[in-house]
Amino acid sequence: MKHVIAIANQKGGVGKTTTAVNLAAALAATKRKVLLIDLDPQGNASTAAGTPKNENTLYQIYSQNLDIQDHILSSPSGYDVIPGGENLIALEVFIRNESKQGELKRQLDPLEYEFIIMDTPPSLNQLTLESLFAATATLIPLQCEYYSLEGISSLINTINTLKNKNLTDNRVFGIIRTMVDMRNNLAKEVSEELEKHFPALVFNTLIPRNVKLAEAPSHGTSAIQYMPSSFGAKAYLALAGELIRRIESGG
Ligand SMILES: Nc1ncnc2c1ncn2[C@@H]1O[C@H](COP(=O)(O)OP(=O)(O)O)[C@@H](O)[C@H]1O
Ligand SMILES: [Mg+2]
Repeated sequence: MKHVIAIANQKGGVGKTTTAVNLAAALAATKRKVLLIDLDPQGNASTAAGTPKNENTLYQIYSQNLDIQDHILSSPSGYDVIPGGENLIALEVFIRNESKQGELKRQLDPLEYEFIIMDTPPSLNQLTLESLFAATATLIPLQCEYYSLEGISSLINTINTLKNKNLTDNRVFGIIRTMVDMRNNLAKEVSEELEKHFPALVFNTLIPRNVKLAEAPSHGTSAIQYMPSSFGAKAYLALAGELIRRIESGG
């Protein structure tokens, strides 16, 4: 079965891209067939995947009526990639003007992957919506800060609205606590609040603050390749394991 996973949170800097790239690499390390789609004009996931930005992006695929199948690149990290980049800003406009909503879902349908991981921009724009339409599950990376819950309610409402209109099978599958530093009392409190309010959704695996996760992209890779023994890499390998277990047990 194919799992199409959107990594989303309108807030920037919460670890979406780091999660997308390291989860893709961790799943690939378990010999799963993985496709990473970069839907962010910043193209950070493409950099971390070691693939060029602005080539073979969804903008070219949509605007030139190309078949996604013919434009998939491969990352040295062991998974396949549809890169992102600035030209996705034009895709945002194109989707709106040409009523192309849902094109990604149609294009992903025939692809044979066990996991398709989508990195999304820090807003609820057309690019994020395309990914929410196409996804079968959404993972929300969250930093344990005072305001971290603000904003995710509109994301959750959007997913539920699409679902109620039968436009998607997507559902919020998990909340992932990122950049965790348990020496910080506020982080600890917010983390415990999350467990209380979303007991089924919060993943047990905590992603610690770890500099190797931040360094790896400058080497065009994930922490899984860059330093597999680092706490960051180990945490994302554990996260991939937890994701697989949760999927197998029906979430
Ligand atoms: N667990 C972590 N430990 C240390 N640095 C991290 C961690 N997760 C993300 N970062 C760094 O924090 C910044 C924001 O993370 P990023 O994944 O780009 O967030 P987003 O995609 O949500 O904007 C980046 O510089 C990234 O390298
Ligand atoms: Mg990002």
